[in-house]
Amino acid sequence: MKLFIDTANLDEIREVHSWGILAGVTTNPSLIAREGRDFIQVVHEICELVQGPVSAEVTAQDTEGMVREGRLLAKIHEHVVVKVPLIEAGLGACSQLAAEGIKVNVTLCFQPSQALLAGLAGAAYISPFIGRIDDISWDGSDLIGQIAAIYAGNPSIHTQVLAASLRHPQHLVQAALAGADVATCPYKVLKQALKHPLTDIGNQRFLADWETVPERDISVLVERWLQSR
Ligand code: G3P
Repeated sequence: MKLFIDTANLDEIREVHSWGILAGVTTNPSLIAREGRDFIQVVHEICELVQGPVSAEVTAQDTEGMVREGRLLAKIHEHVVVKVPLIEAGLGACSQLAAEGIKVNVTLCFQPSQALLAGLAGAAYISPFIGRIDDISWDGSDLIGQIAAIYAGNPSIHTQVLAASLRHPQHLVQAALAGADVATCPYKVLKQALKHPLTDIGNQRFLADWETVPERDISVLVERWLQSR
């Protein structure tokens, strides 16, 4: 499973990118609005930094408008993936854009039937929202598993399952176990996924014990050892 970050904040993206495990970025109108910056400029900066797929969402609500906006967004950078909502107009726009070779992320997926239609429309990614499904007392990870199974059984569908709306590290684990191709995580969830108190306690204990070793400068020790050979 690949890892994307779900944010439009350059500082967050830069930090996680430095870990060497970031494969892409997803944004949406809410995340872009939060930054208070020029939409196109932000998307371009993210693409340049990450050099991987970056989802940028259309806001038109009719197929013609979505296709027009999608074609324009695709001009920003070769890594732009056009994001469209899973409504009738979005399905039509996905089919048209995909036929033109533009990658599309079909978002706001809440049931397997929607994912099947998006797959048949040539979506590069389908974004099921795990957290928002859990919010209404259904099981978001079940949805991921069902979509993965449907796609696996339909060789004509080449859509990647992109688990979205992840709220905590357990959602990341559930997405991986359920067969998602990609999980897009908010910055906070990625930090939580990395952190464990026993890791920090163990690390501090190793350092404290190391302080009792009289000769402990590794570069000095290795140099001396190399010269003695
Ligand atoms: O990728 C979709 C995501 O941004 C939605 O997350 O937490 O608002 O459901 P959330």
